[in-house]
Amino acid sequence: MKKGLFITFEGLDKVGKSTQVENLVKHLESKNLKVTLVREPGSTEISEKIRNILLDKENAGKISPLTELLLYNAARAQLVDDIIRPALERGEIVISDRFYDSTTAYQGYGRGLDIKLIHSVNMEATGNLVPDLTILMSVGPLNETINNHERFQSSSSDDRLERESLEFRERVRAGFLEIARQEADRFLVVDAEDTIENVAAKIAERVDQLLQTK
Ligand code: TYD
Repeated sequence: MKKGLFITFEGLDKVGKSTQVENLVKHLESKNLKVTLVREPGSTEISEKIRNILLDKENAGKISPLTELLLYNAARAQLVDDIIRPALERGEIVISDRFYDSTTAYQGYGRGLDIKLIHSVNMEATGNLVPDLTILMSVGPLNETINNHERFQSSSSDDRLERESLEFRERVRAGFLEIARQEADRFLVVDAEDTIENVAAKIAERVDQLLQTK
């Protein structure tokens, strides 16, 4: 039986997610609450090994979307079993820097794998563990000007990769918003372009509300 509180952070790379994760941990610890912090992929011995395969630059472009889906979820299954579920059962607050919504956004909306398939693998890997709150650090549409600029550059493979990467990130960005729209009650969508202080205050306010209603 789950007694603790499970909070996840999501968003594109480099939107200031880690800073806000740290801020929330400090906020909760200042209230003498016990927090377990994890990140995905990783955080257990096995999951960190899987992380190395996934993020190794030498493997870039070689791992198929389906392999990615299964590897991210393999790392996740181990993390849920070893750390997240036991901590929740002890009544702790668990914060995860990314969780299964990243798979839906990156491998689903980004790489084009079937969303229903992703949902069932995500649920299998986590034993149906749904976060109590997911904070999405959201940014506006990625710069169309850059996109067009790149589109009309010479067609060397580097340019093509860059352009694909921008279009990929835009699909992931929009995908996250779509996931949040479909599960509006679970999500707090914050504007990542707002000041660090404002974003931190909005997150703390929502988490405090959640703690009161528990
Ligand atoms: P990381 O260096 O941890 O970046 P960040 O600070 O942005 O979290 O790299 C994690 C990368 O893995 C990031 O690009 C998102 C990607 N990812 C997926 O594609 N699917 C997933 O399920 C997860 C958890 C991460």
